[in-house]
Parts: sequence; structure tokens; C-alpha cells
Amino acid sequence: MKGVILAGGLGTRLRPLTLVTNKHLLPVYDRPMIYYPIQCLINAGIDEVMVVTGGEHAGDFLKLLKNGKHLGLRSLRYGYQEGEGGIADALKLAEDFADGGKICVILGDNIIEGNMRKAAADFFTQKSGAKIILKEVPDPQRFGVVEFDGDPSKGKIKRLIEKPKEPPSNMAVTGIYFYDGDAFKVCKDLKPSGRGELEITDVNNYYLNRGDLTCETLEGWWTDAGTFESLFRASKFVAESGANHLDLKGARPGLFGGGIRG
Ligand code: DAU
Repeated sequence: MKGVILAGGLGTRLRPLTLVTNKHLLPVYDRPMIYYPIQCLINAGIDEVMVVTGGEHAGDFLKLLKNGKHLGLRSLRYGYQEGEGGIADALKLAEDFADGGKICVILGDNIIEGNMRKAAADFFTQKSGAKIILKEVPDPQRFGVVEFDGDPSKGKIKRLIEKPKEPPSNMAVTGIYFYDGDAFKVCKDLKPSGRGELEITDVNNYYLNRGDLTCETLEGWWTDAGTFESLFRASKFVAESGANHLDLKGARPGLFGGGIRG
């Protein structure tokens, strides 16, 4: 399975920091933000990766990531998103790369403590469809949120709602998704939302209605890093979990030049 990291967008919520660089190149504790989703994919056993970025500072990714070999990647491809048309708009650029196969998509500002290896293996054997990764949060109105059908403990999803003012649950949809090859047609057929973006939540609802969306709840901490509060929290989580927070088992050595502390 191949991996796609979506690192486009203009990062306007982090201005003025993002006036001189891309959001995903900002530091999260001791590394650039983009290292974390790369490591997440490597830890899941995925080493063929495409990074989709955009904006004025896209060239800086090449300086940092080069051909990805020094990070443990077998191959690294780049895509350039014009404008900021939304997550599902950025995903469209990965169609040729995916070549009809299954993909793991991770948002460039998502950082997790745990490991996606089992979820990836489960999705690999899933016949068709998509898989989303859920996490309970105290501030669900900031995210895509699950509305459960009946008793939440039974885990049956009725629908997914993007940033609801009155969230029907505390269960957020994290920025880690698994899709079959149909995702690109779904993205192409989407209409922009009220905020003018092609929403990844609409892609997930498509699979839910089709009947082949599965989900898993994430172990360990998860955060995005797209606001000052969450960027700070991300650095704090990483620092406090001793920089061994990401499971390096199964990863090729050298992602951080052997510089992992502890
Ligand atoms: O972090 C998880 C959340 O991410 C989900 O719960 C939401 O359902 C999903 O919509 C998304 O919400 P955000 O408002 O946090 O997304 P944001 O606009 O901050 O974009 C997240 C990443 O997606 C960003 O770091 C880069 C990528 N992106 C975003 C946009 C708008 C692109 O590559 N291109 C884009 O045009």
C-alpha cells in the first residue's frame, strides 16, 4: 500500500509564522512537522510516499526531504496543489500515484503517539471501501465528528459531520484515512462546501452510505498542529513523551540520523 501526505493549504491560522515558510515545515519540538506523518507511514510499513503541497514555499520541501532515501523512504514523489481547495481537492493529485490501488492518506499536520501498522494490515485485507481512525476529544467542534446510530457503545455510525456547532458526540475523525481506488472518482464528483472546500468528510460519508466504511479507535494521544494552541500542544506531547513517542519498530533506521533521544 502506498502513502499520501497532504501538506497543502496556506496555514492562515498560523500567520505570521506561515508568511515565510510552509506550515508543515514549522518545528514540532525537535523536528519539522512533516517528519511525523512520514514516520507514521514508515511505522505502518509504507515506504512509497507522495507529498502534496502548495503555496509559495513548496520548494523548501525538496531541500528538506530530497528523494526521501535518508528518511527511510523507498520512493518519494511530490504534487503541487494550486490554491487551497480543500483536503479532497489535494487528494485528487495523487490519482496517478495510487494507480488504482489502496492508499493510506495522512494530513501533514496530524501527529500520533501510536502505530497504524495494524489498521493498515486490516485495511489491506478489507475487500473494498475505506477506513477512518477515530479519537475521543474534548473539543469536537474543531473536527469532523461522528453521529452514532443508537447506543454509541455499539459503534454504529449514522453520519459524519464536519465541524458541527453542536457536536452529537466527542468522537472526532482524525486525519488518517485508508481508501480504495474509488476515492478519486468520489473526490471529482464532490461539490464545494459552504466554506468553498472539497471536504474529506463528504468522501467518508460517501463510503458510509455505500456500506463499506470501517473505523478504528486510536490508542495513545493524537493532535493536529494547525493552530497556535495545537502546535504548542503537539510540541509538549512530543517533548513529554521522551521522543520515543513514535514506535520505531519496523522503521528503517536513520529517519532522525540516529538522533532519537532516550
Ligand atoms: O485533523 C483532523 C481534521 O482535519 C478532521 O477532523 C476534519 O474532518 C478535516 O476537515 C480536517 O480539518 P481541519 O480544519 O483541521 O483541516 P485543515 O484545513 O487545517 O487542513 C489539514 C491539513 O490538510 C493541512 O495541514 C494540509 C492539508 N490540506 C488542507 C487544505 C485546506 C491540503 O493539503 N490542501 C488544502 O486545500
